[in-house]
Amino acid sequence: MSADARAAESTPALRCRGVHKRFPHDVIALDGLDLEVPAGSFFGLLGPNGAGKTTLIRSVVGLNEPDAGEIAVFGHNALGPGGAPTRRIVGYAPQEIALDKFVQVQQLLELHGRYFGLERRDARDRAAEMLEQFDLTNKARAYANRLSGGMRRRLLLARALLHRPRLVILDEPTAGVDIELRQDLWSYIRRLHADGTTILLTTHYLDEADELCEQVAFIRDGRIAAEGEPDQLRERFGAPRLEDVYLQLVGR
Ligand SMILES: Nc1ncnc2c1ncn2[C@@H]1O[C@H](COP(=O)(O)OP(=O)(O)OP(=O)(O)O)[C@@H](O)[C@H]1O
Ligand SMILES: [Mg+2]
Repeated sequence: MSADARAAESTPALRCRGVHKRFPHDVIALDGLDLEVPAGSFFGLLGPNGAGKTTLIRSVVGLNEPDAGEIAVFGHNALGPGGAPTRRIVGYAPQEIALDKFVQVQQLLELHGRYFGLERRDARDRAAEMLEQFDLTNKARAYANRLSGGMRRRLLLARALLHRPRLVILDEPTAGVDIELRQDLWSYIRRLHADGTTILLTTHYLDEADELCEQVAFIRDGRIAAEGEPDQLRERFGAPRLEDVYLQLVGR
């Protein structure tokens, strides 16, 4: 293996150092957070409501500006004006479902593809492919606000993956979806990971994290409280389930 190839392999997909974010009224959402997500890993970010998960993710994709700290995606600075190019290698499915009501589903995906630099034809083909993949082909001409909740989740995922990102960040992708769709999403995300894509996922379902993630990190009050492989953590904390580790580490 060449030195370049070795360096590329050891460069983490995401590296956060001392990330700090304060919101008005003295809310410290991120308090000097350090985190490393290895390239190619399936990584879970776990923690209670308000711990700072979404704030961190939004900082990575340029929707928040941290007050201090460093964030690099595959070795490229993700912050400041120079951060724009990193956005092309990241796919993001937000926690909040905000879809344009006046754009049809297929069109929405095509626009997203164009925005991320795909040629017109590639964007169209890719949009059709993703609709097929997520069982939304029969909704191609529907307006996004006419979709059911689960269909919207699928559309968000299709949109996140459309431009073939190397790092996919999914903020509670399975919140409020039915059992079958949850299984479908799991198998899709797993396949994506098997193809070499790095996955960073947040979830409140610890069975889901245990089932899917190779590594997890627990976040509390804007800092990482502990991280490791689920098995290691269970052993370290003498806990039978990941949920027990969670309660010890970040429970109220
Ligand atoms: N735009 C904002 N303006 C002000 N405060 C905010 C903003 N976004 C987040 N916060 C605050 O930052 C803290 C962290 O919120 P964040 O959304 O990151 O939590 P989370 O870990 O994603 O929680 P959840 O599991 O509920 O999604 C909370 O106290 C929240 O109220
Ligand atoms: Mg959140």
